[in-house]
Amino acid sequence: MNGTQCSGTRLFVDQARDNFGDVGAVAPSSPSLARAMVAPLDRYRLPRTVLEVGAGTGAVTAALIDRLAPGDRLDVVESNAAFARALQTVTEASTMTTRPQTTVHTTRIEAFQSAVRYDVIVSGLPFTNFAPDEVGVILDSYDALLTDGGSIVYFAYVGTRRLRSVTASRNEARRHLAVEKLLSDYRGRFDTSLATVWCNLPPARVWDLRRKRRLASRRKSTGCRPE
Ligand SMILES: C[S@@+](CC[C@H](N)C(=O)[O-])C[C@H]1O[C@@H](n2cnc3c(N)ncnc32)[C@H](O)[C@@H]1O
Repeated sequence: MNGTQCSGTRLFVDQARDNFGDVGAVAPSSPSLARAMVAPLDRYRLPRTVLEVGAGTGAVTAALIDRLAPGDRLDVVESNAAFARALQTVTEASTMTTRPQTTVHTTRIEAFQSAVRYDVIVSGLPFTNFAPDEVGVILDSYDALLTDGGSIVYFAYVGTRRLRSVTASRNEARRHLAVEKLLSDYRGRFDTSLATVWCNLPPARVWDLRRKRRLASRRKSTGCRPE
């Protein structure tokens, strides 16, 4: 681990301690998890539009920038101002080599507005820390921001529901279940695949959701003229 990675980890741990509800993790994503999160990019033709939500100190952002090409566009939305400052450093350092057009937006995704529609939305948000209503609003915003045929990729830590069911109040366990149900219903509208990344603290499941393309309405052609 070099000095920059080390200070990033320190910042992450400090912010996680002070804002666990929003950060929802004990450490930045591992390189294995970051690789799994960016894999759906390869399905899309250049130039691609990518939105990362909840980027923390940039573990996944750096992997995205490595995978993106000149002409691609990356918008990063991060609500925590200290993380957003660190992300600025990550994106400025990396654009030296690959130069995707990258912008960091210091705001909550609920307030983010963009005229762009994204081929891939990479979500690092800790959904199971949020209230079901908040998750519903965020998923609606993903719907509005995604292209036809676009992909949403997000992760969830393995074992958190069981942990919560033994360590948290009954209301908390119920809230967690309600969020999982909401996510499960949401996934039902997509073609999905699931991968488990064991090499992460804690291990994580990566959900890859691909929006079904709407078929253009086809006119029936009978070859006959209308009467
Ligand atoms: C689990 S951390 C993910 C960090 C990073 N993606 C990684 O993999 O190392 C969740 C991040 O989401 C951010 N966040 C939480 N709620 C948010 C919201 N409503 N809009 C934007 N960012 C949010 C937190 O500040 C935090 O940086």
